[in-house]
Amino acid sequence: MSLHRWAYDDAASATAGCATFIAEKLDEAIRLRGRANFAISGGSSPKPLFRELAKTGMDWEKIHLFWVDERCVPPGHPDSNYTMAEEFLIRPAKAPPSNVFRVLAELEPRDAAAHYVDVLQEELGDSPEFDVIHHGMGQDAHTASLFPGEPLIRDRTQLAAAVYVTKLKSWRVTLCPKVLLAARFTVIFAPGQDKIPVLNQVLEGARDPMKLPIQLLLEKRGETYWFMEAAV
Ligand code: 6PG
Repeated sequence: MSLHRWAYDDAASATAGCATFIAEKLDEAIRLRGRANFAISGGSSPKPLFRELAKTGMDWEKIHLFWVDERCVPPGHPDSNYTMAEEFLIRPAKAPPSNVFRVLAELEPRDAAAHYVDVLQEELGDSPEFDVIHHGMGQDAHTASLFPGEPLIRDRTQLAAAVYVTKLKSWRVTLCPKVLLAARFTVIFAPGQDKIPVLNQVLEGARDPMKLPIQLLLEKRGETYWFMEAAV
């Protein structure tokens, strides 16, 4: 596994660098394979990244968009990752609706997860290999909807699953490690001075993915790129 750690002077530079990198890798996939499969995360830090991505002039006719995870709320709900992506990426980029594969989060969680697994298998086969997977990282080192102590962190068979996040008292649907670890390029976008201590612990400290879930990605054989801010 080759791990690349890029620390920038400020959030704006980290955002621009990450957007440029993702655009390059998606363009490469389109050149090599005629299409790019891209999975995105939610939360708040992706908003400026998605805004930049929408401006990179990528060929969205050839990019198929999926989610790393989704909160079990209907589209339009303020917590919906799909709705956030619609505002900051899909609409500005004019991505064709037929290329957007959202989680049907308005369904019961397990039904939403089962449907999403069907979509992943239809579109990408039984062992999905995304060209780029974009991750965020929480202050507790969670990524996707894999929070500390979550048994799914050890799962290597399921493609996606419904997960109840105790600390948030809410259901989510998340991609599972089998898919997360198979990405050709993994991008972790974790700007903010507040995330530097956790990033240092994740990248330099003892390895315990059950405690620091994003350390799961250190098992990857493929390329992993960490975009962050330098400590001021
Ligand atoms: C979600 C995300 C989640 C996110 C982290 C970090 O649905 O919330 O997929 O894994 O990446 O919570 O969120 P921020 O980037 O907003 O800090």
